[in-house]
Amino acid sequence: MKILGIETSCDECSASVVEEGKHILSNIIASQTEIHKPYRGVVPELASRKHTEWIVGVVQEALQKAGISKQELDGIAVTNEPGLVGSLIVGLSFAKGYAFSLGIPFVGVDHVKAHLYAPHLEYDIEYPYIGLIISGGHTLIGKVENYDQISIMGSTIDDACGEAFDKVASFYNLGYPGGVAIDRLSKKGNQRAFDFPFPSLHKGVHRYDVSYSGLKTAVVNQLDKFRNKQYEKTPENIAASFQKAAIEIVLSRLKLAIEDTGIRRVVVGGGVAANSYLRETLKSNRDLEVIFPSLPLCTDNGAMVAGLGYHYLAESRFSDLGLNAYPRASFISQSTIAT
Ligand code: KG4
Ligand code: ZN
Repeated sequence: MKILGIETSCDECSASVVEEGKHILSNIIASQTEIHKPYRGVVPELASRKHTEWIVGVVQEALQKAGISKQELDGIAVTNEPGLVGSLIVGLSFAKGYAFSLGIPFVGVDHVKAHLYAPHLEYDIEYPYIGLIISGGHTLIGKVENYDQISIMGSTIDDACGEAFDKVASFYNLGYPGGVAIDRLSKKGNQRAFDFPFPSLHKGVHRYDVSYSGLKTAVVNQLDKFRNKQYEKTPENIAASFQKAAIEIVLSRLKLAIEDTGIRRVVVGGGVAANSYLRETLKSNRDLEVIFPSLPLCTDNGAMVAGLGYHYLAESRFSDLGLNAYPRASFISQSTIAT
């Protein structure tokens, strides 16, 4: 089965053709970074307008690169939640119209689950595993039984990890997108320049949860309080110390999830999975089997949507034309936290 995957939940306009949920025939990602750069953040109205302009060309390019005609498609998978609703609607409406005109089924896919599917496009991964989904909108730790079944153990109680990177980068004008800029600057900075605080969450109720508002406040408002006097207040030192603190927060919760479940296989997905400190630190742990997607599959892309959507379509779990777009992930709001 050849599935067209469409992803327009935020600022990447992407389309991809994936065969049998595994083989990427094409993965076109049109990034809107330059459009949002002057605002140091994604402007939703601009994002949806660009998706409207770009979607037809991006899909055509995906088909061309895959070397197939639209008549050879067996189905369409499209992100319908979570994300910026105006942007989601562009991809979703396109997918509905395209599927209807071609007489093929389509299915709505959850963006968060799709992120965790990304490494499955590159590796054969056995279930169960501990999944870490870490992006600009989500920070989730869960026990993953299969591609569709994630028992959430912990999540952020305020900002997402990537969001904290973006806010710190924006405040100090370190570059855009923030996570990439901080990662790059960190390589020239000293991680010990600042001792930023660790969140003190309730050890029972919030055993696997993370929080970033305290760290963000410390970095933005209380730099001098946490500075080790022998080090300079340079952008590189701020970046390196912040990055270490931000990633260690989530690693500490992940460690507990691994210890408590006894599951030693860890799969990471989402934009922050590209972070070099996170990748190096986790991969250096010889007691774990750690799987990251390659860098192009960390950030938003249509391949992960097509890959996950294949499984639904193969089980005849189709969506109908009444499907809507939603800002939040329904599986997260409906979940009871697993312990
Ligand atoms: O998955 P993604 O493309 O979009 C969402 O679903 O949110 O993730 C984007 C997030 C942004 O917050 C961005 O700053 C962060 O991923 N990011 C990084 C890195 N590359 C992207 N954060 C830290 N280090 C990176 N290398
Ligand atoms: Zn994403």
